[in-house]
This record gives sequence, structure tokens and C-alpha cells, in this order.
Amino acid sequence: MDKLVIEGGIKLKGEVTVSGSKNAVLPILAATLLTDEPCIIRNAPALRDTNTMLKILRSLGKNAEFDKGIVFISSTKHANFIADYKLVSTMRASFCVLGPMLAKLKKAKVSLPGGCIIGVRPVDLHLKGIKSLGADITVESGYVLAKANYLKGNYVYLGGVYGSSVLATDNVMMAATLARGRTVIESAACEPEVADLAEFLIKMGAKIKGHGTPTIEIEGVKQLRGAEHTIIPDRIEAGTMMLAALITKGDITIKNIRFEHLGALIDKLDEAGASVMKTDSSIRMRLKNKLNAINVTTLPYPGFPTDMQAQIMSLMSVTPGISVITEKIYPDRFMHVAELNRMGARIQREGPHAIVEGVKQLSGAPVMASDLRASACLVLAGLVASGKNSVSRIYHLERGYENIEEKLRGLGAKIWREKE
Ligand code: EPZ
Repeated sequence: MDKLVIEGGIKLKGEVTVSGSKNAVLPILAATLLTDEPCIIRNAPALRDTNTMLKILRSLGKNAEFDKGIVFISSTKHANFIADYKLVSTMRASFCVLGPMLAKLKKAKVSLPGGCIIGVRPVDLHLKGIKSLGADITVESGYVLAKANYLKGNYVYLGGVYGSSVLATDNVMMAATLARGRTVIESAACEPEVADLAEFLIKMGAKIKGHGTPTIEIEGVKQLRGAEHTIIPDRIEAGTMMLAALITKGDITIKNIRFEHLGALIDKLDEAGASVMKTDSSIRMRLKNKLNAINVTTLPYPGFPTDMQAQIMSLMSVTPGISVITEKIYPDRFMHVAELNRMGARIQREGPHAIVEGVKQLSGAPVMASDLRASACLVLAGLVASGKNSVSRIYHLERGYENIEEKLRGLGAKIWREKE
């Protein structure tokens, strides 16, 4: 396994271009299961998770090639309806092959994804939605088996105790595209990645309205055709780079972004003392003068994204004053607290809250990544810590950030890879 070594204390300066969105490309690749015709997906990020999804598609009977950011998908003669535990258990997003496979093949057997370090991660809303379209669902020996002679459109409320569900919305929306009649998903997830999936499905011939709002309407059609699509930029990578500018007191222009996807984050960074200059599709991020402590609560989109919670905690750990970070989506998503405290941060967890008392300086220390966004948080902390900092288990980071060390080195960071 590799680790990243970072020598902190350098102000990052320059330009960086954001890659395509991990959380858009994964369901969109799954959606190619809805047609036998070829699909071309552009601006696909070269990530561990993208490769995992391509492996799953191949195991389900697709040809899937990835070349310089473009994915070419076509069908072989043998469609398979079983998504195997070995692959699904490594990436929760694979569960969103359930809806398209069921709609296309009238049956699907998908391993339950299991929990992960950020929480239990149930799939009850996925199953509720698929069942509401008329599927028979059985769960046995760790697999969900769904069958239906045909799917029938229905009204389904998909809100859960933690609000809407991104991948459950994706699963039900994809299944509904080939159902008979009209489906209304109430309390649907509004994330831009859900809207991007809907745009791809519409290019395939699906009839969808209301995507990006809490109420999505789908009019089922007989079949879907192949399509081409360009993935939206990754708003979480963009946000992570914005924080890299602020935490190092540098000056970074982040290119290829969509402001409308970053409203809550930009609002909070403005409150924290950022100087935000927007041009057509880029943002220049610097500090106005000093950092101010802020309070952050994560919420479903368009609220502050849970996927930026660990990263903003790094920034607040070196911001004078007391900041309170409240995690409303995954109340256990605080594995990074202990690692930041090993670097000299002063963070106390109180249930779904983390109380952060800013310190003058973090000190470099060997730390361990526990999940994708926690690893990004530790890299940000390493950029500003004194001395050398090493982040181990960086395969977590490789799941969701394309060439992050090259991108950071391009901004002046002293960061390199070593064998563990
Ligand atoms: C997506 O996961 C993202 N992953 C996550 O990003 C992101 O953190 C999450 O949405 C929330 O924004 C992808 O898009 C691939 P949810 P998803 O269903 O869809 C509960 C990253 O770092 N819930 O929206 O799996 C769930 O436990 C990853 O890029 C149920 O209760 O998340 C959570 O508390 C991490 N029942 C809340 O809903 C269900 O059936 C939101 O989860 C499903 C979810």
C-alpha cells in the first residue's frame, strides 16, 4: 500500500482544473444497463471507483472500455443479472445497478452493499421504491433478489429519517423509465448528480420532469436507446481545492466548475473570510485577511454537503475561535477527528456535533485515512502542518480524487508518494 508524504507550510498558488464528478459518473454508467445500444460517456474521471463500476458492468455482460476520460459501453450477447458480492462490497454505489437491471431484464440479484466506516448505510428506501413499482423482493444470504413480469408506475415517497437518498432516487428513477405508466418520486434527492443522471436518461429517450427538485415525474417508455453524455464537474473536488487555497493562505483559480452547485459552500467560505472572485466557469479563491470561526450543519442538497464536512473541519482546526460542525446525514462520520487531534487539533465530539477550537499550528504526524473524504481532510491538514506529514491507506483517496497529488504539486505543494 502507498502513503502520501506532505511537507506543510507552502502557500498554494496557480490554477487547477476540476475533473468529472465521481457521484455523477457512477449512476450514469449503471444506467447504460437500460439499453443494448452503445453509449459514450465523456469527462469521466479516472478513479478507483470508476474502474470498479466498469468491472461490474463487464460482469453483467457489457463491453466497457475507458480511454483518456471517455468510456465506451456496448453490449455482449450474454446479459447477466447477478451483481457479485466481491465487487459490490467494495463500493456502495454499485447497488444502483439494481433498478436498471430489474427494468431491463425483469430480474436482478445484487449483493447488499453492507455498511462502511461512515455509517450503517441501509438500503430500505431503495427497496421501498422498487417494491412500489410492483417488484417482488426477497433478501437472502446477503443478496437482494428482485423480480417482476413488468414494472408499473406509482407514487412513492422516498424521504427517510435523514432526509432524501441520492442513490435510492437514482435506482427508482432508472427503474421507472421502463415501467408502464407514470411514476412520481416525492422527497427525491435534489443533488446535481441526480439531475445529471436524469439528463442522460432523457438523451436515452426517457420521459423525466422535475429532476433537481424534490418531486420527479417519470413517464415509462417501451425501450431506451444508446446515448452520449458529458459528466458534470465534481463539486466536491472543487470544494476541496477551494479549501486548499484558504488553509494554506494561498491563491488558487479553480477551473471548470458550476457555481450553482456550490452555493452553500461558497456562502460558508465567504462567512469564514474568503475572497471569492467568479469568472465564467472558474473561481479564484483567496483569504480576504483572516479566517473566522463558523458553524456548519450538513444537509441534503442544496444544503451544506456532508461530503465537505471533514474538509471544512481541517480548515476550522486552524481557525482562531470555536466552530461547531453538525453532521445531520451520517451522524457517525467523524473518523477524521481522532486523526486531526493526533496532529495537534483540539476537536471534541458531542454526538452529531464536533466542537473545534482552532489552534495556531498543526504538527506533522503519521495519520491514517479511513474513508474518501477523511483522507482529503488529512491531506488538507498536512498542507498546513509543520514538518512532515504522512497519510497512509491512500487507496481511499484514489477512489474519488483524480491525480490529486499531481494537481497539488502543480500548485506548489511538496507532496509525494512512498511505499508504506
Ligand atoms: C451518495 O451516497 C453519495 N455517493 C455519498 O458520497 C454522499 O455522502 C451521500 O449521497 C449523501 O449526499 C454517491 O453518490 C456514489 P444517501 P448514498 O442514500 O446515495 C440514509 C462520497 O464521499 N439512507 O443519500 O448512498 C443514509 O444512511 C460519498 O462521495 C437510508 O436511511 O447516500 C444516510 O444517512 C460518501 N436508507 C442518508 O440516508 C436508504 O435506503 C443519505 O444517504 C438509503 C439511505
